Amino acid sequence: MFSRLCHLCTIVLLSLSAVIAARYPSFGTIQTTKSAGVLNAVINNTFSPINLFDQHVMADLGNLIEELQANDTDVRVVVFSSGNKDFFFPHIDSNSLLPGYESPLPKFDPGNPNLSFPVALVWNITQLPQATIAVIEGRVRGIGNEFIMSCDMRFASKSPSVEFAQIETSLGRTTGAGGAMYLAHEIGRGRTFEYVLSSKNADAVTAAQIGWINQAFDTSTELHDYVQKLAARIALFPAQGIIATKKGINAVSRPPIDVLIQLAQNAYAELTQTPIGRDLTNKWLRVTNNQSLSAVELNYGDGEDIIELLP
Ligand SMILES: *[C@@H]1O[C@H](CO)[C@@H](O)[C@H](O)[C@H]1NC(C)=O
Ligand SMILES: *[C@@H]1O[C@H](CO)[C@@H](O)[C@H](O)[C@H]1NC(C)=O
Ligand SMILES: *[C@@H]1O[C@H](CO)[C@@H](O)[C@H](O)[C@H]1NC(C)=O
Ligand SMILES: *[C@@H]1O[C@H](CO)[C@@H](O)[C@H](O)[C@H]1NC(C)=O
Ligand SMILES: *[C@@H]1O[C@H](CO)[C@@H](O)[C@H](O)[C@H]1NC(C)=O
Repeated sequence: MFSRLCHLCTIVLLSLSAVIAARYPSFGTIQTTKSAGVLNAVINNTFSPINLFDQHVMADLGNLIEELQANDTDVRVVVFSSGNKDFFFPHIDSNSLLPGYESPLPKFDPGNPNLSFPVALVWNITQLPQATIAVIEGRVRGIGNEFIMSCDMRFASKSPSVEFAQIETSLGRTTGAGGAMYLAHEIGRGRTFEYVLSSKNADAVTAAQIGWINQAFDTSTELHDYVQKLAARIALFPAQGIIATKKGINAVSRPPIDVLIQLAQNAYAELTQTPIGRDLTNKWLRVTNNQSLSAVELNYGDGEDIIELLP
């Protein structure tokens, strides 16, 4: 009897852990705490001094997204912030564009082979069954900005370390996860051209004025207080209303997936592999000292630095 019971136990435990097991390797770059329907996710890439959007963060995000997609009814709102106060996300790991780069992640999304893994991540964030809020206290550039644009709402502090930019044009690329397309909707066509073609930074006050973010706060405390209150309020409401409302807003404000695949993702992939694209990737890795905490990473988009990178 005892052994039969134990056998049953083992089966139950095994099948449970098979369900819960993370699909991708875990690196511990995202710390989550859950309380009253709000999941706070703090992103701190301990493999990178600049909180790089690299394979470690992508694997952990992939696992988190999968959990959230499974309609965890306890969670109605997800709040993303960064543990690194200089960088929310600077950009993608440029090493991933080099020949011979190795990663434990699939190159394409298992759920839609037309999407690259990073593009699938940010696309999937747009359609999570939870409301999503980005709390920004550091630099946001490249796919970092595409990440926050994929969230439903964005709030920032007025700290000088907060800068928003899409820097791809300066590197001979385009915004591969659709950042420019999302911006065109939020800040308008002319301003999108101004910021994206010049690859220059917007500070938090400017970003709030033009609609890039919802609001900018004088202090970190005010920022977090406001967002936690907002999140707690949304978390009171039934999931079905949140899900349906998100679907409708997405339908009229998100780039169509085929346009995003062709004119953002695939164009980006092609441009990174032209002679100019490859040259600029190598230059970027050199001037940033392999994406370490360097003056270029801190100040890119502020002044004349871009000129020095051009071929
Ligand atoms: C983030 O990680 C760094 C190490 O890279 C560590 O020094 C820092 O304390 C961490 N911050 C938080 C908020 O966990
Ligand atoms: C989550 O719920 C929504 C709405 O009820 C549904 O359309 C979707 O398929 C569900 N997702 C999963 C993974 O169960
Ligand atoms: C994106 O979501 C789809 C389901 O809609 C899933 O099959 C796929 O694994 C997800 N990909 C990532 C990278 O989150
Ligand atoms: C992928 O792209 C091909 C060709 O553009 C298209 O026929 C197919 O439906 C797409 N598949 C998915 C899963 O989107
Ligand atoms: C740059 O850093 C990555 C780890 O982030 C490492 O894999 C790579 O070998 C480094 N490249 C050089 C040229 O040192």
